[in-house]
Amino acid sequence: MTGNPVRFCGLQLEHRIINASGTFDPIAASRAFGNDVITSLPFSAFVSKTVTVEPRQGNPPPRLWELPSGMMNSIGLPNKGLVRWVEEDLPILSRMKIPLIANVMGFERDQFSTLVEALGGKAEISALELNVSCPNVETGTIIGSDPFECGQLVSAMRLLTDSPLIVKITPNASDPAAVAISAEAAGADAISLINTVRGLALDPVSRRPWLGGRTGGISGPAIRAASLAQVDAVCSQVKIPVIAMGGVSSGKDAADLIDCGATLVAVGTENFRDPMAAERIRTELESISLVP
Ligand SMILES: Cc1cc2nc3c(=O)[nH]c(=O)nc-3n(C[C@H](O)[C@H](O)[C@H](O)COP(=O)(O)O)c2cc1C
Repeated sequence: MTGNPVRFCGLQLEHRIINASGTFDPIAASRAFGNDVITSLPFSAFVSKTVTVEPRQGNPPPRLWELPSGMMNSIGLPNKGLVRWVEEDLPILSRMKIPLIANVMGFERDQFSTLVEALGGKAEISALELNVSCPNVETGTIIGSDPFECGQLVSAMRLLTDSPLIVKITPNASDPAAVAISAEAAGADAISLINTVRGLALDPVSRRPWLGGRTGGISGPAIRAASLAQVDAVCSQVKIPVIAMGGVSSGKDAADLIDCGATLVAVGTENFRDPMAAERIRTELESISLVP
């Protein structure tokens, strides 16, 4: 049953539900609701928001657009940068009682190297997730949409760390499964998917793009079927474990992804609607019989 502990990249996790990067901020939540939040998260592992080498302001506003079945964002990876994240956030995140996965992104291979070398050896960090898939930043899309480029990157990072390497591939590629195969061959320990799907919204008055980043990333139930198709394709092509996400808002959604071969399921946009959604999804999942 799904409530049982699960092994993932050498980690023993209490259950299969984790968070999707950038959709749950335990530090802000603990400021708002008290320090206990940090030690009682509804996830079996926590994935950080993307950390880059340099601090980033993110994209100009507006950054969000509501969709009939989800939302579109052009947040643009705002973060305080590697040095301040290690100094200020890591000590707080290390108080969590669950493994920490650091999500990192570079705009060129040297930046990925800097991030992997700095974070890979840290005792507080159990695994690294390489974000090669963000549709808001051009270079990320290029690496993650090309099997050769992605393989080259993963090979280079593999030489730098023994920490588990999770490669978060982009859905905005012609053949995401080919990228996953290449990442596996290059030494990735796991694949995660899907990131947001590129979309566009027009301002109803000016008829120009609404989002400050022009295009944005669609998330939530709107992308659930796309996620299921891509997870199914990737799981049938690779042997390493897969973290599946994309519009998960119920135990049934999580069960669908697990029955397609996913080891873990990440909850993203649903966290904004209900910060404790992961607990409900986990309970619902435990009552569902999965394909043996
Ligand atoms: C507001 C927002 C911020 C996000 N920030 C990140 C990020 O920093 N790094 C990343 O790899 N993915 C990021 N994502 C993508 C999610 O991790 C996830 O892949 C995607 O939203 C699909 O899952 P969902 O439909 O359950 O939200 C973000 C998504 C949203 C909605």
